[in-house]
Amino acid sequence: MKFRLYLETDLNRVFTKSLGAIAAAELDVILTYCLMASETKISPVEEGRTSFLDFDFDGERDALVEQLGRLSATAAAFAVHAPSSLEPLPLREQLAFGTEVVTAQRYRGKTSERLTRLMLNVASAADTSKAVDDRSVLDPMCGRGTTLNWALLYGARATGLDLDRRALDDYATFLEQWAKINRYPHKMRRYKKQNTECRHFDFTVAADRAVLAGKTVPDIRTFHAPAHSGAVAVGRHAMIVSDLPYGIQHHARSDSNRKPTPIGDLVENVAALWPSQIRTGGSVALSWNTKTLRASDLAALLERAGFDTVATRGFEHQVDRSISRDVLLARRSNRI
Ligand SMILES: C[S@@+](CC[C@H](N)C(=O)[O-])C[C@H]1O[C@@H](n2cnc3c(N)ncnc32)[C@H](O)[C@@H]1O
Repeated sequence: MKFRLYLETDLNRVFTKSLGAIAAAELDVILTYCLMASETKISPVEEGRTSFLDFDFDGERDALVEQLGRLSATAAAFAVHAPSSLEPLPLREQLAFGTEVVTAQRYRGKTSERLTRLMLNVASAADTSKAVDDRSVLDPMCGRGTTLNWALLYGARATGLDLDRRALDDYATFLEQWAKINRYPHKMRRYKKQNTECRHFDFTVAADRAVLAGKTVPDIRTFHAPAHSGAVAVGRHAMIVSDLPYGIQHHARSDSNRKPTPIGDLVENVAALWPSQIRTGGSVALSWNTKTLRASDLAALLERAGFDTVATRGFEHQVDRSISRDVLLARRSNRI
């Protein structure tokens, strides 16, 4: 059966000219690892200001419709019965809260919301840790929480670490304001400075009080600590999703004396910890600047740490003159 997925073309601002290729790469991972399609042929098409993907799929249609509704660039989707006979598919956003929790914060160094959603989507498809009812996400360099906020929308528990205390403080303030403005019952626990576990804040939120009362574990936990600090007990997760530093400082004034670490050294140190922070079969999705580290070098670093590459192709896109961004998807192997 033939299908057509129309893309939100305003995303060209985020993905420049690569929107079709990136959306095709995301769809390919979803069809292959989530919907178990054996052969996927996806054709990106541009007609004037419209971009769409044509593809074949012979599996279960409801499952396909559910996945298409989650993709990062979906505008509309159709079953194609004949070239001029398109049947609209009933896409639904099944998110726990409104998307303003990821869009409302604006700050320098924020990761694109769409790219973050894409990374969570592909990580979730590649995750075979079988923790379907407990799909927790770790972002070891979480900033003001774009990854953690998407995890919240997807109903997954989220844990974040960052070196930048100001970023974590601002993030906690934002979450409290967001919950108050939307009248969501919530609990925010901020930890005192310098606690030995580096805990920073725990945040729990629900659509109503009864659900909040039933939650025994926070939705979002953060730690003010370096990602390579093995002393911090962050638990074991189904997925690690992170937008790595771009070689540009985005630190609070109090941290301004710190020099950025070369990205390869940072990944090597941090990835050495990941086998203890992720379940076997769990996935890792990373975005980074290929001008600071080649994709093959990143894949080799991850392989040495015990991760097999799942997908690398099609995600690279130019952000500006100094940043060419890419996404690598890997899975914790059984070898370790
Ligand atoms: C590209 S930004 C991530 C932005 C985040 N996804 C967001 O949208 O807010 C990279 C983050 O890595 C943090 N960082 C850099 N080196 C780190 C380290 N060694 N340990 C923990 N965090 C680190 C920076 O403070 C920054 O917040």
